[in-house]
Amino acid sequence: MTPRKPEVLIPEAEVRSRVEALARQISEDYAAVDELLLVGVLKGAFIFLADLSRCLTIPRSIDFIAVSSYAHSSRTSGAVRLVMDLRTPIEGRHVLVVEDILETGYTLEYLVDVLAARKPASLKTCVLVRKQRRQKVQATVDYLGFEIPDVWVVGYGLDYAERNRTLPYIGVIEPDDRSA
Ligand code: PRP
Repeated sequence: MTPRKPEVLIPEAEVRSRVEALARQISEDYAAVDELLLVGVLKGAFIFLADLSRCLTIPRSIDFIAVSSYAHSSRTSGAVRLVMDLRTPIEGRHVLVVEDILETGYTLEYLVDVLAARKPASLKTCVLVRKQRRQKVQATVDYLGFEIPDVWVVGYGLDYAERNRTLPYIGVIEPDDRSA
């Protein structure tokens, strides 16, 4: 059976204008710094990072980091591990972590701990969507795109079993379609 097309939760135009607004705010806040390093968290953040970075009006550079939950268990245990590190040192640099989604908060909490230990000049976080009802640990989000309900979202970088990452909007997968 062909899975149904995900229902629209946040339309493409709304995502675009929110990303532009975040970029304006970030450009204003970092206007005085030499350069902002955007750290995209793979894989989910790749589209958000691409669009956000192209809307910024300040000097910026890009790096990527990848994490994984142990046996896909982060949602319950919080055990996260680094699977791909940054290519460049961040000591003394202004760093903005760019994430697609915050659910339990374990991933962002882990990343902030790891990166803060490297003594950046500043460290902030930018998250496209947050499910506050699922959050288990305090993970500070400095720039937030959207607060969303506790539904399974796909599109704009977000996937379900690697599907639907490249949808231009943020959609919802119904439980019936998850096994399809
Ligand atoms: C997602 C997302 C975050 C993490 C958030 O990654 O990109 O990194 O989950 O969840 P948490 O707040 O409960 O820790 P996922 O494991 O789906 O990998 P992906 O980005 O490669 O799709």
